[in-house]
Amino acid sequence: MIIAIDGPAASGKSTVAREVARRLHFQYLDTGAMYRAVTWQALEDKVDVFDQSALQGLARRIPLRFEKSEGNDIDDKVLVGDHDVTALIRSPKISSMVSLVARVSGVRKVMVEKQRELAQGHDAVVEGRDIGTVVFPHADVKVFLTASTVERARRRSAEMESEGHCVDVHSLERELISRDTIDSQRRSGPLLRACDAHVVNTTDRTIEQVVAEIIKLCERS
Ligand code: DC
Repeated sequence: MIIAIDGPAASGKSTVAREVARRLHFQYLDTGAMYRAVTWQALEDKVDVFDQSALQGLARRIPLRFEKSEGNDIDDKVLVGDHDVTALIRSPKISSMVSLVARVSGVRKVMVEKQRELAQGHDAVVEGRDIGTVVFPHADVKVFLTASTVERARRRSAEMESEGHCVDVHSLERELISRDTIDSQRRSGPLLRACDAHVVNTTDRTIEQVVAEIIKLCERS
């Protein structure tokens, strides 16, 4: 069974998708982490983020993999070769650059193939922007998470502060809007609700309520 969870930045996808995967003992695949890792590698290698063919070549070569972190039962650790980049790919610098890399169709083509390979033969919860529309259009359950921009900026700032970054909620709000605009307007695999996706607004709801609703949808399918 494939559960596709899509939605804009900071809509609660990661928290909810991880918890659903844990409870159902499904594999967890964070596709945003894959675009972040490619962006990280591009910056490390000083690849111009406007050079589409260099980015596609890099996406093909990058030895990207996931592992379980200690004491955890889902694949939440991101590695490039043997280098643990889990924390590095969440930096404000990567967050501000990633949608430029993720809009390159050659990069998306390579990533989509890799995402299908990684989930192949597993029960999986896959989160991203184009999972229910492009990567797994026949997913058994499709969920599109939303939340107000103010709430999303509040959540993201709390998360970043807990990681030791200094943030201004208003500039975060502007950055989220700009990232969503780039993600929604690109030609290849835009952020889009699949017509058969269940829309779940997480603004005034607890993680527990949202997780319970998704698990109910899975039981019914
Ligand atoms: O979910 P996230 O914030 O970690 O995603 C990082 C970026 O990657 C975001 O700008 C959207 C992009 N992304 C994408 O284009 N397609 C996906 N399937 C997942 C993420």
